[in-house]
Amino acid sequence: MKLLVTGGAGFIGSNFVLYMLREHPNYEIINVDALTYAGNLENLQSIESNSRHTFIKADIADVKQMENIFAQGIDVVVNFAAESHVDRSILAPDIFVRTNVMGTQVLLEAAKKYQITKFVQVSTDEVYGSLGPTGLFTEETPLMPNSPYSASKAGSDLLVRAYHETFSLPVNITRCSNNYGPFQFPEKLIPLIISRALNDEAIPVYGDGLNIRDWLYVEDHCRAIDLVIHQGKSGDVYNIGGNNERTNIHIVETVLQQLGKPLSLIRYVKDRLGHDRRYGIDPTKLETELGWKPAHNFETGIKETITWYLNHQEWMERVQSGTYQDYVKLQYGQRMGDSGA
Ligand code: NAD
Ligand code: DAU
Repeated sequence: MKLLVTGGAGFIGSNFVLYMLREHPNYEIINVDALTYAGNLENLQSIESNSRHTFIKADIADVKQMENIFAQGIDVVVNFAAESHVDRSILAPDIFVRTNVMGTQVLLEAAKKYQITKFVQVSTDEVYGSLGPTGLFTEETPLMPNSPYSASKAGSDLLVRAYHETFSLPVNITRCSNNYGPFQFPEKLIPLIISRALNDEAIPVYGDGLNIRDWLYVEDHCRAIDLVIHQGKSGDVYNIGGNNERTNIHIVETVLQQLGKPLSLIRYVKDRLGHDRRYGIDPTKLETELGWKPAHNFETGIKETITWYLNHQEWMERVQSGTYQDYVKLQYGQRMGDSGA
């Protein structure tokens, strides 16, 4: 099987590439990534000399580049490539539409032309919007995205659906909750807490800290996608989540305690605009139809994750150098009443 993985130098994509090469000894992976600020070849260092992995630096929204890649012969596409950070989508929405909506359409068109056997769109629970205190997102929940990021992901989901309905392209859409684990860019909550706490910097908590996210260890997400590739019913959506809802303040306190850092580092700051209150996934369909179960619980997963970041502090320093500091100033400067540091 020849897999085209897009965004395979990012957080989940790189974990997925490593997972698939390990789990399927005869699969070949073409890994296409534009290497934006979030893409990092260092994540793939351990497979540098693996002849079953080929990396190509390319933009999914570039028709010519994608045509050339698909012409090499691809069986299955797994599309991770995206602008993925909600806060950045509030600061600059346009690139989200270009990559997430237009980029996905370019891939779909190439997938149709070259008659691939499966197109898996890696989407997100954020397309469903925000939950009240009760209930869970199912695959039938209407799409009600609230941020430019989630709206762009919902837009790409609708295009994927349309290519299935109109052109019979064999597709699946997966909608997963918040991931955590190795190689996550430190703009996202858990690595942000770890990185700032290690430098004794204040930890910015948006609003009242009581927003809820449903956390899943990244490898459990990768295994779910593997199952969807092989067993997913064409045209179907699969929700992915580990029944692991936590308030943000609980996450912050847990990580600080495990690092032996004082809770006095916590700083409540101005809320994120349009901040979704609660996400919670009902993964029943994935569990009953495809036999998926998460292998990690939050207590062990977060310990392993913290240990990974403690052992990879140079990785964290390297990815945060350069333009990331400009983003930190823009995002946190005014909120924290200083440079954001
Ligand atoms: P990430 O930001 O870490 O990685 C995204 C990757 O896409 C980067 O390597 C980047 O260089 C690449 N990329 C961006 N624009 C590109 C373009 N035009 N062409 C080619 N490559 C491009 O994101 P992530 O957290 O790994 O998320 C991966 C996917 O999973 C996204 O589609 C996201 O919406 C989805 N998702 C993420 C989570 C989560 O908790 N992180 C949860 C559910 C779904
Ligand atoms: O639910 C899946 C989504 O999870 C993915 O689709 C997104 O790509 C991914 O980034 C993530 O989105 P969130 O917005 O939930 O993740 P983030 O890590 O940015 O924030 C998690 C929660 O923590 C959210 O309620 C906002 C809050 N937060 C975040 C940051 C960065 C803070 O309180 N302070 C912060 O500095």
